[in-house]
Amino acid sequence: MTSPLILVNLKTYREGTGNRAHMIAQAAQIVAQESGVTIGIAPGYIDLHPLCHHFSIPVYAQHVDGCEPGANTGHITVDAIKAAGAAGSLINHSERRLTLAEIEASVRGLQAHKLISVICSNNETTSAGAAALVPDYVAIEPPELIGSGVSVSKANPEIIKKSVAAVHAVSPKVKVLTGAGIQTGECVKIAVDLGTDGVLLASGVVKSKEPAAVLRDLVSKL
Ligand code: G3P
Repeated sequence: MTSPLILVNLKTYREGTGNRAHMIAQAAQIVAQESGVTIGIAPGYIDLHPLCHHFSIPVYAQHVDGCEPGANTGHITVDAIKAAGAAGSLINHSERRLTLAEIEASVRGLQAHKLISVICSNNETTSAGAAALVPDYVAIEPPELIGSGVSVSKANPEIIKKSVAAVHAVSPKVKVLTGAGIQTGECVKIAVDLGTDGVLLASGVVKSKEPAAVLRDLVSKL
């Protein structure tokens, strides 16, 4: 069985930018090596290349556009994140929603470059729709719990169970993450026991004064 993925989205938090992004990546790399659990990090674009250069953990973009390189302004192409060293990208995060056509274009672009695609969704219906595009992962995050400190694993385990079933009914090979309010190893264990392949989280790690301690707790029950 492959290791669950703990994917830490640094968002645009000040505590996850610049030197702090390096510090969190360093902590993630140490805990990943100690535990054998795969820990990925999704920094802002400015930090993407330096983190890919300095660390061996998988580094993801927070968003990618499906457009080809060329005469586009202010877009982030799959070519650009690949050249920066990214392992893949989030797509359609709750804080960066896209149209269905844009989501498909981003997934196809990532697939063409053999990068990992993680489509975010907000409920079991959109999770099933996302699965129809056959990304590597669908990440279900109830928006009302994002950044709340209240864990989806405890507040709404039903949505996790239903989303795993909905995704696998469409495409059994698509892996499922869940997120929103994930803080502890217990939250991660519940999510994995409910059939997910890991978690997507942000504030619990990014805003902590001791990210390494939080990460050690997150992997402690796997
Ligand atoms: O991308 C992860 C995110 O939306 C969840 O945020 O702060 O609730 O862990 P948070």
